[in-house]
Amino acid sequence: MTRAGIIGTGSCVPKHVLKNSDLEKMVETTNEWIVTRTGIKQRHIANDGTACSDLATEAALKALQSANKTPDEIDLIIVATVTPDMNFPATACLVQKNIGANKSAAFDLESGCTGFLYGLTVASQFIMTGTYKCILVIGSEVLSKIVDWEDRNTCVLFGDGAGAVIVSNVNEGGILQNYLRADGTGGELLFMPGGGSRNPATLASVEEKMHHIKMKGNDVFKFAVRAMYDATENILNKAQMSIEDIDIVIPHQANKRIVNAAARRFKIPEEKLFINLDKYGNMSGASIPVALDEAFNEGRIKKYDNILLVGFGAGLTWGSCIINWNY
Ligand code: UT7
Repeated sequence: MTRAGIIGTGSCVPKHVLKNSDLEKMVETTNEWIVTRTGIKQRHIANDGTACSDLATEAALKALQSANKTPDEIDLIIVATVTPDMNFPATACLVQKNIGANKSAAFDLESGCTGFLYGLTVASQFIMTGTYKCILVIGSEVLSKIVDWEDRNTCVLFGDGAGAVIVSNVNEGGILQNYLRADGTGGELLFMPGGGSRNPATLASVEEKMHHIKMKGNDVFKFAVRAMYDATENILNKAQMSIEDIDIVIPHQANKRIVNAAARRFKIPEEKLFINLDKYGNMSGASIPVALDEAFNEGRIKKYDNILLVGFGAGLTWGSCIINWNY
């Protein structure tokens, strides 16, 4: 089978920055509470006219440039998101149109904050079997549009952004292992009840705030720590590696305390962890690809480094991926 690897990355966040001090004026919260409980200091927020496909398109164009590929070379576009422009058509089709990827298939994938890892895994299968040669995988979110800005339990956590990678066949290294899991019994710990076929949009659904994120933060926190542990342990076993073989860990950027708990358990030293949630908050499916792009551009990732990507989110879903970086 052909090896699949990442050959280019790109990301984009909206210009407007919402600081914790701004949130202090919107809900009953403090900078001190947000920083000590989450590690988040600010987040980027899209303006009224900006949708998921706009951020996804910008990230995609940067990834194409970094991989030295033209839109015509793209065989498939996968967009992982919980905040698509609309229910249909797929945001991936809107990106396909925007970048002029005229020979490409396109679909969206919804696996909460684990969506990018699901997308990367699907893409790597298509490359490994030789079905496709060049795939654009994007995680893009405009969570500010579904956040309840009166709910201090959730509105301080999330931010907007998009990250993209180009997955193609490589001669050595590349995506070494994937691990994906789901547990639908925890679906109501983190969800948006309105807008689908179960609770279509009505005046009542709007009044009852069914079109906003609902989260049992404490329960998600406990699940997240367990998920980080399970996803790390299982992928290391699958890859027959130990944590010492990993050069950098890029976790889902939800909460510094969740990352620290997992890092303590595996004795991962601070310098091997990549954290940027202080600047962006939790960008759901966009958080890992944005962090990957930033880590690479900051020189934190060197050729032949082993990278562990690990994440968790709504569904419930969780997963991980080990990549031997070779570009
Ligand atoms: O991508 C996956 C999605 N989500 C997550 O990963 C989130 C996982 N969960 C978490 O990160 C944490 O559970 C939170 C950051 C959401 C909350 O932290 P916590 O340490 O679990 O706090 P808590 O929910 O136990 O709340 C403690 C207190 C409560 O007050 P009482 O009931 O003890 O009086 C909350 O009402 O903190 C209060 N609180 C706040 N206070 C100031 C909740 N939100 C805020 C706030 N500012 N923004």
